Amino acid sequence: MKDSAPGTVYLSDYAPFGWLIESVHLEFDLDPDATRVKSRIVFSPNLNSPEQEFFLHGENLRLISARIDGTAISPRITREGLTCPVPEGEFLFEAEVEINPGANTALEGLYLSNGMFCTQCEAEGFRKITYYPDRPEVMAVFTVEINGSASVLLSNGNPGPRGPGHALWHDPWPKPSYLFALVAGDLVAHSDRFTTASGRRVDLNLWVRPGGDEDKCAFAMEALKRAMQWDEQVYGREYDLDVFNIVAVDDFNMGAMENKGLNVFNSAAVLASPETSTDANFERIEAIIAHEYFHNWTGNRITCRDWFQLCLKEGLTVFRDAQFTADMRSAPVKRIRDVIDLRARQFPEDNGPLAHPVRPDHFQEINNFYTATVYEKGAEVIGMLKRLVGDKAYAEALELYFARFDGQAITIEDWLSVFEDVTGRELCQFLRWYTQAGTPRVAVKEEYDSGTYTLTFTQSTPPSAASPVQRPQIIPIAVGLLGANGDEVVPTQMLELTKDSQSFTFEGLSGRPVPSILRDFSAPVILEHEISDAERAFLLAHDTDPFNRWEAGQALARETLCYMATSDARPNPDYLEGLRAVLRDDSLDPAYRALMLGLPGESEIALALSAHGIIPAPEAIHAARERLLDALSETLADDLPALLDANAVRERYSPDAAQSGRRALFTAALALWSRRDGGARAASEYAAADNMTLQLGALGALLAIGRGEAETAAFYEQWRHERLVIDKWFAIQISHAAPDAAVAKTRALVQHPDFNWKNPNRFRAVLGALAGNHGGFHSRDGRGYALFADWLLTLDPVNPQTAARMCTAFQSWRHYDGGRQMLIGAQLDRIATAGGRSKDMGEMIARIRA
Ligand code: ARG
Ligand code: ZN
Repeated sequence: MKDSAPGTVYLSDYAPFGWLIESVHLEFDLDPDATRVKSRIVFSPNLNSPEQEFFLHGENLRLISARIDGTAISPRITREGLTCPVPEGEFLFEAEVEINPGANTALEGLYLSNGMFCTQCEAEGFRKITYYPDRPEVMAVFTVEINGSASVLLSNGNPGPRGPGHALWHDPWPKPSYLFALVAGDLVAHSDRFTTASGRRVDLNLWVRPGGDEDKCAFAMEALKRAMQWDEQVYGREYDLDVFNIVAVDDFNMGAMENKGLNVFNSAAVLASPETSTDANFERIEAIIAHEYFHNWTGNRITCRDWFQLCLKEGLTVFRDAQFTADMRSAPVKRIRDVIDLRARQFPEDNGPLAHPVRPDHFQEINNFYTATVYEKGAEVIGMLKRLVGDKAYAEALELYFARFDGQAITIEDWLSVFEDVTGRELCQFLRWYTQAGTPRVAVKEEYDSGTYTLTFTQSTPPSAASPVQRPQIIPIAVGLLGANGDEVVPTQMLELTKDSQSFTFEGLSGRPVPSILRDFSAPVILEHEISDAERAFLLAHDTDPFNRWEAGQALARETLCYMATSDARPNPDYLEGLRAVLRDDSLDPAYRALMLGLPGESEIALALSAHGIIPAPEAIHAARERLLDALSETLADDLPALLDANAVRERYSPDAAQSGRRALFTAALALWSRRDGGARAASEYAAADNMTLQLGALGALLAIGRGEAETAAFYEQWRHERLVIDKWFAIQISHAAPDAAVAKTRALVQHPDFNWKNPNRFRAVLGALAGNHGGFHSRDGRGYALFADWLLTLDPVNPQTAARMCTAFQSWRHYDGGRQMLIGAQLDRIATAGGRSKDMGEMIARIRA
């Protein structure tokens, strides 16, 4: 179904480009406000009989001159690009354009960050650098010459001869334009080297600005070497150039970018030291370093035919980086964290107006589709595929994938074809995971009769604008059965649900079992299993599947919070007692126990209530969560001091899984203990902290009980020259503010001289924290909505991509009461009718209002 919005692109309209590119030569004369780019591109006709006219993308370019086979031409220029007649057969296209990196605040194309030239071309930024068929399936070999005054001049591939003010780079691997990168600045390198399995020596450099960042590179470099080795060992993939460069950039819209041989990173996603970074920062950096590196094979060597296929590279690469993290750290902990994240970010998207399939079939602005659905659900889909075919077939299919498609730009159908060929299985039903939006609900009914136990599953997915007709999915459901004493009487089996409703029978049981369903979260669905609190408590105590054991605790917490938010019910004692038993079990990994202590967030409770047909009241949800935290601190009063003692880390700081797990349990216990001692212990921990995890953990514990004013001031004085730490300082004050104080706190902080809103990290630290403070954002008078909308409107003309992305704060608006819907609706109207709005934000607001 096509809507009529102008500027919408449809997958069904895909047509190949009429030419191939034999070679690309680019020459840059860098200048902050008048950079010249000369291009020489050799085109040859593609199989599909080219038209006599061709179109090259180009935006915000000043064309100086253009020639075909040496003869000057006068092409037709529009806002989108250039059109001109071309000869039959092969021809040379040459152009010279002028661009203004200094004026580029959108951070797409070539721009300046702290005086450093850098690029971001994915998805469609290369067209802001020169005229080009800026589409991912046009792959070419690039040679790049850079003239500029900076001491370091970088581009993709291998370095050629260089001299003062000049550098040459050649990338032998054909690549799409979105993987192009250029960096020029007075940078210093943290260098190392890696030898691949077949003996190729690779120089590794992490480039940073001098003066403070050099000592924050070591961890990322070690992570890179581990990732390189892991990809050889697990996927048989070697690196394929002589150098691998990474650059840290302060102004960046996303986490990082996998440009061939020249990854560009948001500083926050690469720089780390124990004093300035938390354990969570270290883990995230390790994962992003691995993610971008893994793209070299899943994304760069094999890329996407068109942007609808984005999940081809992103879903697979997220899946691979999750496997890496699971191997480096703890698999159950990683799995639980990923599910928490999926529920917090992807479920609201998939169950609201922004729902779209993992492979969308239309868009206006592709940047709006770098979403939790494409990335995280895209990775879940691959996890399901692996579960369905088994580990061995998965490995064979991946071998075949790399062999068959290396050097090509392909589709999801191509990806599935290797699984079909290896297993002989038809995967057309599986394809629905890519084409249907929405989170399937799976309802479970149990029946037991003299030794025979039957599970009946019924699936349904609510229809939406993106998927009006929902057909049954193939859903792998991992199930194990436990006996009355907690023994596993039936070990994990993978049931395959393919129909609307289906039953599975287990024979020969000696008594009614307790089922453990959807182990390891074997599919991204909402399980509707009505079981008693006693059974949940039993699973919390006994489930042998670590994910489901955690899940049992979460379900109890979620349900008790839902009751408490809608009545004056007291916390469920089964939950409190069950949790205490788990926390006392020293055989359990501290990181795992810390996750057990985590309560569902307030927005998760709001969505859970709304799923039960109850209109959520944000203030009541917040109050319920506070009451539950108080009850937890009371129940655990005798245990907390011992937990603090046992998990205080006295060894030299290391961000490894074991130590960071202990710190996670320590800081979770500290936050609860602060509710008993008024923050005395947290204040002394703050004063003694010698690493950011503890310092921030203690500060958070204080802020959460309405204290920590002196510490907040001292924190600023201590860290005012560390921009990444100051981001944390901004965020924590807002995220830990009481609901009635969050908007005022945000208002005060946007006045702070360090609130440089044009920097995406700083903007997100402040406005992202406001959106994340559920009670504050949804303050009944609408001040949170209005303030947030003000800032979206301020940012949009400067940086549409980040502004549009942050519109997601409004995506769940229909769940709230009429008063709030009116207030949010008014802000959405205000944004929708504001003049000069970007296409990015225009699309987001239109979808959210629809
Ligand atoms: N490919 C990058 C990654 O996931 C993300 C870059 C997306 N950038 C954008 N402007 N949409 O690793
Ligand atoms: Zn990626």
